[in-house]
Amino acid sequence: MILPCTSAAQDGWLRLRQALWPDCPEAEHLAEMAGFLREPDKYAQFVAYDEDGQAAGFAEAALRTDYVNGTETSPVAFLEGIYVAPQQRRQGWGRALVDAVTAWARTRGCRELASDALLDNVASHLMHRALGFEETERVVFFRKELS
Ligand SMILES: CC(C)(COP(=O)(O)OP(=O)(O)OC[C@H]1O[C@@H](n2cnc3c(N)ncnc32)[C@H](O)[C@@H]1OP(=O)(O)O)[C@@H](O)C(=O)NCCC(=O)NCCS
Repeated sequence: MILPCTSAAQDGWLRLRQALWPDCPEAEHLAEMAGFLREPDKYAQFVAYDEDGQAAGFAEAALRTDYVNGTETSPVAFLEGIYVAPQQRRQGWGRALVDAVTAWARTRGCRELASDALLDNVASHLMHRALGFEETERVVFFRKELS
């Protein structure tokens, strides 16, 4: 079962976020989650529950109005994060979560759903391809300290 998150207390949401982004302090997670919930037209988040009611995975998406590499329309929906607990993988939860994000993106009038993955995250690349995404670009980010 896939449920939209309507509260920061949604069972499993924080824990799964912490598993995907372990370097982010808890207070920052909670602040981000509260921010998303305040703007439901722009952000959507879902948690997947197995038949025992255990949170198996989550996905978050946003409407992006800035240019998104490889896309042709604006705004586009962007899959900002997706994570399935290791013991729950390869059971279709990733697909179900992306389906929920896709349905939300359509309700927002989007014609494209975009996403990204680190170059070495081959499992994620394979999941994206299996779910109908096509690869558009490979980029390297840079920064320069300005002091
Ligand atoms: C990527 C991730 C979300 C996939 O979740 P999942 O629930 O296992 O995905 P699904 O079971 O819905 O898989 C759908 C299809 O994607 C492909 N796929 C998913 N994981 C794969 C893997 N490790 N190897 C090869 N193909 C894979 C398969 O074609 C799969 O269909 P199949 O199982 O019928 O062959 C999960 O591996 C994960 O949480 N990884 C760590 C976090 C992460 O990397 N997130 C993405 C950041 S961009």
